[in-house]
Amino acid sequence: MQAAETRRLFFALWPPPELQAELARRARKAVRVGGGRAVAMDKLHLTLVFVGSVDGAVQACLESAADGVDGAAFTLALDRLGHFPRPRVIWAGASQVPPALSALVRDLGRALLPCGYHPESRPFQAHVTLMRKAGRGPSVGELDPLAWPVEDFALVESLTLPEGARYRVLHRWPLAAPDPASQ
Ligand code: 2AM
Repeated sequence: MQAAETRRLFFALWPPPELQAELARRARKAVRVGGGRAVAMDKLHLTLVFVGSVDGAVQACLESAADGVDGAAFTLALDRLGHFPRPRVIWAGASQVPPALSALVRDLGRALLPCGYHPESRPFQAHVTLMRKAGRGPSVGELDPLAWPVEDFALVESLTLPEGARYRVLHRWPLAAPDPASQ
């Protein structure tokens, strides 16, 4: 019998190309580190929920679960740089995580449970990986704050190729515009 085809999937915030380019530009200015490899501009993203390899039936379950998530749009101010020593990455993040982002990660994670998703035990840390294989303690300056208006979230496939990871946005879900009365 042939093994079912699987895809390695994750949910993410996927910035528009102009914002990816601007983030890459500011990161180049701010990050001075020995070693390390910059993530290609068009791959910059923020993972919400990493799912892993699943078959088509589970993918369909994930997509219909995401249909039921009522998220609100928000603006994310990327204003911090940091270093995770174990995966050896340098990242951009936010000193203030908007409540709508935390709610989206929580609600999405809960919605995916019936599809067999196993939540990570470590807490969610909103970050955009900028450099990989950055082993040495990085010398990071300030990141000029960059406002990212987030209006949707996406299901993304990660393809592992000899030349490295490639990402393919499979589907996007809009986030509702915030109620002006609550502004
Ligand atoms: P990273 O950028 O910090 O490596 C695709 O691999 C995306 O899913 C990346 O953004 C990666 O985060 C994230 N991710 C989260 N958990 C992961 C895991 N257990 N394995 C691989 N990638 C993971």
